[in-house]
Amino acid sequence: MLLRDSHDLAVPPSTPVEDVVPAGGVPLRALAYPELRYMGSKHRLIPWIHDVLSTLDFETALDPFCGTGCVAYLMKAMGRQVTACDFLGFTTLVAQATVANATRTLDGADVDAILSPRADADDFIARTFDGVFFTADDRVFLDRASAGLRRLDDPDARAVAYAALFRSCLKKQPRGVFTVSGDLARYDDGRRDLRLSLEEHFREQVAVFNAAVFDNGRANRAFQADVFETDAPGVDLVYLDPPYVPRSDDNCYVKRYHFLEGLSCYWEDLEIMQDTKVKKIEKRFTPFSYRRTAVDAFERLFARFAKSTIVLSYSSNGYPDLAILEGLLRRRKRRIDLFERQHRYNFGTHASVERARVTEYILVGRG
Ligand SMILES: C[S@@+](CC[C@H](N)C(=O)[O-])C[C@H]1O[C@@H](n2cnc3c(N)ncnc32)[C@H](O)[C@@H]1O
Repeated sequence: MLLRDSHDLAVPPSTPVEDVVPAGGVPLRALAYPELRYMGSKHRLIPWIHDVLSTLDFETALDPFCGTGCVAYLMKAMGRQVTACDFLGFTTLVAQATVANATRTLDGADVDAILSPRADADDFIARTFDGVFFTADDRVFLDRASAGLRRLDDPDARAVAYAALFRSCLKKQPRGVFTVSGDLARYDDGRRDLRLSLEEHFREQVAVFNAAVFDNGRANRAFQADVFETDAPGVDLVYLDPPYVPRSDDNCYVKRYHFLEGLSCYWEDLEIMQDTKVKKIEKRFTPFSYRRTAVDAFERLFARFAKSTIVLSYSSNGYPDLAILEGLLRRRKRRIDLFERQHRYNFGTHASVERARVTEYILVGRG
């Protein structure tokens, strides 16, 4: 898309609008990042995170808990060299599509190739998730698309297709989580997202992710790894947004997104817990989820990245609390700055909305 009216921006009208950065403002690309319904997503906090990051001196950055990829993508849009990681496979694929990928988009021929019927396509999803998720046609489509996109040779092309598929599933699944199944009529409020077939969603989402692809002239990367195995030696800044131990409930990503994690590898080497209603896979251990391990995990986290500027996102409803975290960070960093603002996460049921009203913190440790 080209800029039509550039009066206020003092840039030539031929400039692609995505490349416009209003004076002192957030790159428009970062604001246009495809939002995924994902627990803890910072998408709506991007302008604030940008304001904080733009006060810091860095050229290279690591986001080892990248989730939807929106913060890694913000830093890419700010012109930095970015490495994005997550211990889940499906989130890593999204980051590969948007952060690492500089040029590859999908054209009509790619989409036709992905969607063409195949005699050799498995029917694993149709069989396994019958009566659990989506309509029968949607499940057949997912089996077909999975077979098609796994044949794409170019890993970036595959990643764009996967990202489009994941966002399609998140839009169509009520509440965007895979903890609910069966008769979902009670969720049907006539929303377009629930009415479209997954194939119709997918075609739209390919265009959405194509539009997010751009080259910032740097060698950006995305790979799947546990944070304690992630290595980015000499990186200037590390943005840390780990899960936190909630006051109640749990924060298990696999419980909520097991279907997408399975889809990301067609359940290869993953064992389905057949006695569960929604056909879950085993959850993955992370020390940030438990009171008994969280403090030690933060200690090790800050030690691991002690040579970099540390930017930590955190919420008032998590454990350990801010004072403990600040104390831990002080052991590694001479200068600490605290930024805070009120925020309301849209995630969750009506009953949990009160709980979702929090103070969001960013702790910056330098020196
Ligand atoms: C709060 S979310 C990050 C949200 C992200 N900043 C965004 O805006 O979308 C935390 C992420 O950490 C990942 N995660 C949890 N434990 C991890 C670990 N030990 N190593 C790497 N990633 C982990 C989860 O899969 C999840 O995507």
